[in-house]
Amino acid sequence: MDKILVHGGRPLNGHVKISGSKNSALPILAAALLTKEPCIISRVPDLSDIHYMLTILSELGCEVERASGVVTIKAENVITDAPYDIVRKMRASVCVLGPLLGREKEATVSLPGGCIIGDRPIDLHLRGFEALGAAVRVQSGNVKVLAPELRGATISLRGKFGSTVLGTDNVMMAAVLAEGTTVIDDAAEEPEVVDLANFLNKMGAKIEGAGTRRIIIEGVKELHGAEHEVIPDRIEAGTFLVAAAIAGGEVTLRRVIPDHLKAVILPLEQSGYKIHSTADSLTISPNGSRSAIQLDAQPYPGFPTDMQAQMCALLATTDGVSVVTDSVFPQRFMHVAELKRMGANIEMQGSTAVIHGISRLEAAPVMASDLRASAALVLAGLTAEGVTEINRVYHIDRGYESIDEKLNSLGAEIERVKA
Ligand code: EPZ
Repeated sequence: MDKILVHGGRPLNGHVKISGSKNSALPILAAALLTKEPCIISRVPDLSDIHYMLTILSELGCEVERASGVVTIKAENVITDAPYDIVRKMRASVCVLGPLLGREKEATVSLPGGCIIGDRPIDLHLRGFEALGAAVRVQSGNVKVLAPELRGATISLRGKFGSTVLGTDNVMMAAVLAEGTTVIDDAAEEPEVVDLANFLNKMGAKIEGAGTRRIIIEGVKELHGAEHEVIPDRIEAGTFLVAAAIAGGEVTLRRVIPDHLKAVILPLEQSGYKIHSTADSLTISPNGSRSAIQLDAQPYPGFPTDMQAQMCALLATTDGVSVVTDSVFPQRFMHVAELKRMGANIEMQGSTAVIHGISRLEAAPVMASDLRASAALVLAGLTAEGVTEINRVYHIDRGYESIDEKLNSLGAEIERVKA
């Protein structure tokens, strides 16, 4: 198992290209199950989570080809039972349920288990399938959905913490082949949901309103193959903006959609950085003194929960008292204990971190617990005094394509060593 060594104290300068979005590619790859014809998806990042999804699709009977970011999937004949052994490795596997139900009118997938970032039920997904006329049964750790026929319906996907991203994707993928019209109210508005809807429409679906709280889907008889390029990864982009902020220096991100990062750019500007954008790039540089801020992670277009840990790392060395709340995953603060091992002064009050900024973190051996927490520890290591050792880096490879090489190309000194 690898670990990462981050030599602190080096500013970052230069340009970096942003990869395709993990959270867009995963449901789009699953959507290829909706047709027998080939689907060609480009700009698919090289990540272990993508690898898991392609393995599941092969296990379900798909022909899968992959060559440098382009994936071709042909789901001529599929089985409807996704194997536990692979599904348990990645929660997002749940998004094969919708396309299998839509196409084959039945599917069995193992119920996602516990998750370190908090309670993650799929009750809203199942509520959506039931509204479309499916019988849902949870037995021996599996979810079985079955529907002689699917009928359009009006569904609210509002939960305790707002809407659900993969739930919106799953219900949308089941409804595209249903009889009649489906209306999803309280839908997730994330750019990744819009990207999936755009791909489905290229396959012949009739979806309107993606990106708003109300999505309308006119069912069609069948879908055909299509080609699609996945959108840039706004969370990878946000992580690099914070990397430049925490290490100092001027960095330009290329191949991004600045509009998708508004909720990340604003707090960075408020805390003392200048951000210049063009149609497909963002440049960040210091802008005088840094100041403490208040943040509350909310569903899109609010501040993304997937950027919360990285901002905690930045604010740990920002003068004053910052307050960071997570209203999407209230327990998602595993990184705090590790940042405190590096000297950070943070107290937890329920789902809020109260951060008293200090002048400098100290390097220490730390443990990655989940994808975004591991990114936060790498960023903390960039500014810490000494060499920070991060263990269990397999977490970071789930969602960041060659993050160490990209940071080193900007002037960082990061090594990957066998543990
Ligand atoms: C997606 O997960 C992302 N994953 C997550 O990114 C991201 O953190 C999350 O959306 C929120 O933005 C992918 O796209 C693969 P949700 P998802 O359903 O869809 C509750 C990363 O780091 N809820 O929108 O699983 C749930 O517990 C990952 O890349 C229900 O109560 O998240 C949570 O509190 C981590 N019932 C809230 O809603 C349900 O049926 C939002 O979860 C579903 C969700």
